[in-house]
Amino acid sequence: MCGIYGYIGRNSINEVMGGLKRLEYRGYDSAGIAFIGDNLDCEYADNNEHIKRFKNLTVIKSEGQMSCLEEVINKCLPIGDIAIGHTRWATHGKPSVANAHPHISKNGKWVIVHNGIIENFEELKKQFSPKRFVSDTDSEVVAHLLEKYYDGSALSTLNKVCRMIKGSFALAVLTTYEKDKILVAKYGSPVVVGCDEEAGVVCSDLNSIKVGKCAFILEDNQFAVVEKGNVSVYDENLKPKKLKNMADCHREERGNLGNYSHFMLKEIDEIPRAITRTIEQYNSYEKMRTVLPLNVVRKIKKILIIGCGTAYHAGLIGKRLFEEIGIKSEVEIASEFRYNTFIPEKNTLAIFVSQSGETADTIKALSKCKENNLLTLAMTNVKNSSICFVADRVIYTSAGAEIGVASTKAYNSQVALFYLISSYFKSVLDDNAKDFDREVVKLLDVAKVISHNKIKPICQKVADEIYQSKSIYMIGRGLDYDLAREASLKLKEISYIHCEAYPAGELKHGTISLIDDKTFVFSFITQKMVKDKTQSSEKEISARGGKIIKLTQFEENNAFMQLSLPEVEEKYMPLIAVVYMQLISYYTSVRLGNNPDKPRSLAKSVTVE
Ligand code: AGP
Ligand code: GLU
Repeated sequence: MCGIYGYIGRNSINEVMGGLKRLEYRGYDSAGIAFIGDNLDCEYADNNEHIKRFKNLTVIKSEGQMSCLEEVINKCLPIGDIAIGHTRWATHGKPSVANAHPHISKNGKWVIVHNGIIENFEELKKQFSPKRFVSDTDSEVVAHLLEKYYDGSALSTLNKVCRMIKGSFALAVLTTYEKDKILVAKYGSPVVVGCDEEAGVVCSDLNSIKVGKCAFILEDNQFAVVEKGNVSVYDENLKPKKLKNMADCHREERGNLGNYSHFMLKEIDEIPRAITRTIEQYNSYEKMRTVLPLNVVRKIKKILIIGCGTAYHAGLIGKRLFEEIGIKSEVEIASEFRYNTFIPEKNTLAIFVSQSGETADTIKALSKCKENNLLTLAMTNVKNSSICFVADRVIYTSAGAEIGVASTKAYNSQVALFYLISSYFKSVLDDNAKDFDREVVKLLDVAKVISHNKIKPICQKVADEIYQSKSIYMIGRGLDYDLAREASLKLKEISYIHCEAYPAGELKHGTISLIDDKTFVFSFITQKMVKDKTQSSEKEISARGGKIIKLTQFEENNAFMQLSLPEVEEKYMPLIAVVYMQLISYYTSVRLGNNPDKPRSLAKSVTVE
């Protein structure tokens, strides 16, 4: 979600545009750039709604994709040695040129870009005449506050203003008072600062910043002054701070599309490799012990799993796996957990699942658990993401960079890791390391069962049937219901078709009134124990005209359509079945003319609460 890139040095505008493009994967709806310098084609710039010039500060903004901003920039050919840019994911005010960042103060001396939410913006705005505001954003007020409270030092002014703000922010600020620096402030939203000999950079994430000399991940309540060849970091009292240099640490390769039309399809095809890499990383007792030592595991009495969206759905399966081995387990949606009454229990391990490692809701829930003295473990796909610095321990899925907004290979890797962790717990508690070794082998075998090319035609056929639906239901019991929940999220986020997952047995208690002869209902039967019961639910649906599309490994052939799943040990079935649903969602989205990689209104990492 949203991105900041700032650069001091030669070709700053090109650098910022390049940086914003690397941040595009996060999701955005408009973009903009501000720079100091007056070098641009004035004839084109004057009276252009995208361009605002204030003495030697210029702001260029556009709605929509980066290519729109690029088009304007290519026409006015600006040159500048210092620039900040932004991709916006609207939280306050619709996506528009006026609401796009950067935002400028009335006197034209301050310009800001902001990621996050200023919760008390309405209160803060009361200090000014309403006429001053040209946007509906929560962010613009920061530029005006900087103007109002300027005390002769840009950094001290920023510090003062940040103390007035409630909410979350990563801010990058340019001021014509001190033209040779970018000021940065952070609370709650991620930001990285860095430099090379001849340049200074600010960026929303470590994987998208391009620097060789130094890169520092700012912590909450820290400030930075970025200059050519130098970065200084300060605490909330503006005392200098030393942070670990992350310039040489592992950076995730973003990868490219290759011969694929979309990242989502490529990433679904990468699932076997993603599972294999994830498992191989922890394929021995010794490796698992580095994450969770034996004495720690032996003490754990309860597992609490927290995440959002797809990560939460992986947690649902995790919970069942832990309960299967006799460990009490709960799973919570991060944004709900944060404000629910929480009764902490001793010896609880809280596991936070987040592909991006940047999800604000999940990180806030993590902080709540730490405040309650729980042991915390982050499960993430991105090394050095924010969550890694907050949790006590970290375990990585090694799915490789996931670009498509709809999570696919990361989900399968998270679920695979839950099989592995729960098996590790069982082995430690039973004092039987061999069981763990056997689980590793089984999981590696399951990864090989997924055969994409064979199943693509049938998935495409299902998409052709369902793509015009107004509403779709998905049913299952137990693990099959968990699977249905993830399948339904996948379909709705990229097809925009209303879709609801329902526990098969619960349908008759109300929702079945919505089923008629136009309704498709996906039915998942992968667990023998609940097979007969789910079949009864199917009968009830068919009796009302509903068209069943069934996914099962059992011989049945009594549905409108049936997808026969390959047989693996039952508990692993969701890992296999979900791939069919990811592909069906993908083909439905494409059939409808949507871009599955960038579904409307969604962002890859949701960095606001
Ligand atoms: C998944 O397809 C969604 N885009 C979304 O639900 C996502 O899983 C959720 O926002 C959590 O993201 P995270 O794993 O990066 O924390
Ligand atoms: N809340 C701000 C806005 O709506 C910033 C959103 C973002 O982080 O992109 O403009």
